[in-house]
Amino acid sequence: MSKRMITRQRFSKYLYGLGLLAIVWSINFSGLNKQFFSAKPDEVEDKIKDRVDSVLHLMTLEEKVGQMTLFTSDWDVTGPTMRATYKADIKEGKVGAIFNAHTAAYNRELQRIAVEETRLGIPLLFGYDVIHGYKTIFPIPLGESSSWDLAAMERSARIAASEAAAAGLHWTFAPMVDIARDPRWGRVMEGAGEDTYLGSKIAAARVKGFQGNDLAATNTLVACVKHYAAYGAAQAGRDYSTVDLSERVLREIYLPPFKAALDAGCGTVMTSFNELDGVPATANRFLLDEVLRKEWNFPGFVVTDYTSIDEMINHGYSADQTQAAEQAVNAGVDMDMQSAAYYNHLIDLVQEGKVSEATIDEAVRRILRIKFMLGLFDDPYRYSDEQREKSEILSDKNRQAAREVARKSVVLLKNEKQTLPLSIGIRKLAVIGPLADSQLDMIGAWSGAGEARHVTTLLTGIKNVIGDRVDYSMGCPVDQDDRSGFGAAIDLAKKSDAVVLVIGEKAYMSGEAASRSDITVPGPQLDLARELKATGKPLIVVLMNGRPLAIPWLADNADAILEAWFLGTEAGPAISDVLFGDYNPSGRLTVTFPRSVGQVPIFYNMKNTGRPMDPNNKYTSKYLDIPNTPQFPFGFGLSYTSFAYGKPQLSSPELHSGGSVQVSIEVTNTGKMEGTETVQCYVRDLVGSVTRPIKELKGFQQITLKPGESSNVQFTLTPDDLRFYDQEMNYRAEPGDFRVFLGENSAVSDYVQFTLK
Ligand code: NOJ
Repeated sequence: MSKRMITRQRFSKYLYGLGLLAIVWSINFSGLNKQFFSAKPDEVEDKIKDRVDSVLHLMTLEEKVGQMTLFTSDWDVTGPTMRATYKADIKEGKVGAIFNAHTAAYNRELQRIAVEETRLGIPLLFGYDVIHGYKTIFPIPLGESSSWDLAAMERSARIAASEAAAAGLHWTFAPMVDIARDPRWGRVMEGAGEDTYLGSKIAAARVKGFQGNDLAATNTLVACVKHYAAYGAAQAGRDYSTVDLSERVLREIYLPPFKAALDAGCGTVMTSFNELDGVPATANRFLLDEVLRKEWNFPGFVVTDYTSIDEMINHGYSADQTQAAEQAVNAGVDMDMQSAAYYNHLIDLVQEGKVSEATIDEAVRRILRIKFMLGLFDDPYRYSDEQREKSEILSDKNRQAAREVARKSVVLLKNEKQTLPLSIGIRKLAVIGPLADSQLDMIGAWSGAGEARHVTTLLTGIKNVIGDRVDYSMGCPVDQDDRSGFGAAIDLAKKSDAVVLVIGEKAYMSGEAASRSDITVPGPQLDLARELKATGKPLIVVLMNGRPLAIPWLADNADAILEAWFLGTEAGPAISDVLFGDYNPSGRLTVTFPRSVGQVPIFYNMKNTGRPMDPNNKYTSKYLDIPNTPQFPFGFGLSYTSFAYGKPQLSSPELHSGGSVQVSIEVTNTGKMEGTETVQCYVRDLVGSVTRPIKELKGFQQITLKPGESSNVQFTLTPDDLRFYDQEMNYRAEPGDFRVFLGENSAVSDYVQFTLK
């Protein structure tokens, strides 16, 4: 007898014993997914609704609260608390979802307890932080966003989902779509950078990648967009810190990527740790009820972040755990991650009339709906597939895909006198630096089930190309002041034709709870760079880091700089591909690189101010000790070839309601190699009922041109693209003059102007 049949029989055994409702449910139950996924979306929803309701009718209040409870297993530590009793809780029906448990075998075992040893046998939902891969690790999300390649990002999310689903997982706590304008904040590595437009496109691509077209397919996961909301605006860039924003900035800058993820079908939402305007996001009715449910009609379920309900006591918003549970559930939080606040208090709160049973029912409906959509009631073990686990995970195909997206994520920041690409015939290459051979670092933070031992390092990647013509010396560590290796590194440099210096941050220096007040290259690494420069050998710096770094000395003195982030399992081959010119770098920054931490926050779409910077006028908005401009602007990245831009052209000087204007520009590859350029389109609204940023990204296109080849790149703008929240908070475009800038990064200055009538 197949496992699926055993499950059905088991359900039937209980349900037939429970009377007529159960029989109705059981009949509805069989063959569920075939019917669901060949039907139209509305019919699917209706069918699911009927079945959800028929299950709900069978449940006791205790069982309902169980469905609203999510506990971690003891396999991974992703937060400050652990429970020793999660298996007993599963058996008692007190938990409906588990995270940090994975592999087909382990999850099958936990699922068996839920399905076979609880009264109703409702299957568990297994969640995990599949952030940039499950076992085949892709670039950290910030790095990957630098590819500006939406299809590539969708593909990497798809592969991540496919590997994770084979290992018994159903649900990923991704994508993280928090706009991040402060490089001190460690979690900048986990998102798509500072821009709302690009961040929204990437959010949608990642959701599509994880979820595919069919949540019941065994190679997809349900996504969880996080952290709702404005977590990236933590004061002083310190993780978990207070957030205080105007509603305008919230709606205009921070919320759109969430909306984009939900429009792409994202099934679940995670609340953030921060407070917003004095109310923790985890009990914030404005965010959870007014915006998410009422304005956006979100049908999925909301889960808290790790112990967020409990943390409302520290916030000073809840007197105790009981009140915190009441506030969270009444604000619209459906599932409690790890606080055990629902587990401890929800039954009493219902009995005391402080929480209505209707609220509980609604939350349970939303959770069961997702379980039905995943096909778990059809076969609770469908995602635990040892065979697929073996064949899929870390397959050659997946590793190849990781290499392709990794090399697209590398950003060439500097290349004096065409230092790069290196000649494959180079006599002797010195590879120096603490990160060149560090598997543990190259995999990056938030790498989930990824294992460092599977990473091919840069040193190995280079050896695979030029064999024993490369020598390695570590030079110094990243985070200790030990200079004893300088001498050997300098000797090696002197004997070599060029130096590849691989420096930056350790992986643990970014990610959750990893904010830094100093965003320069840590430890003695810069001093090592200075000494290597003094040898006179070409100095090629490969940076590995999870945030923008302030690198003024390197920017002035290195001969070439490659921003390589943490690129994952295939980091080494991908960077070697770029170093030796097998891949012409095409990455563009999605976050501004400041000259110093003192410029933070610095982002491309700032406002003009009443006294814009004028170097000849003291009383203007500037610093005494540093220019206003960043080291590298948003959108910046070089290529081994060069691109020349013509003058932007406009189809009409006027734009009317219901109409559009076309802006176009001729781009020519004027160098000697084929290359990919990301043509960017920015708009400035000159006068508004509220002031507007000096530039806003409104579109981009990637084109690949052969040497000498030209392309006319065209963008269409409609009044919808010009909307913002006006003084009365209406989302609309205001008549007036607009400038359109087309070019290679956000510092572009050539524009055309039109009037919106
Ligand atoms: C806390 C993190 O903020 C969140 O992003 C993550 O999904 C959870 N822990 C679960 O690991």
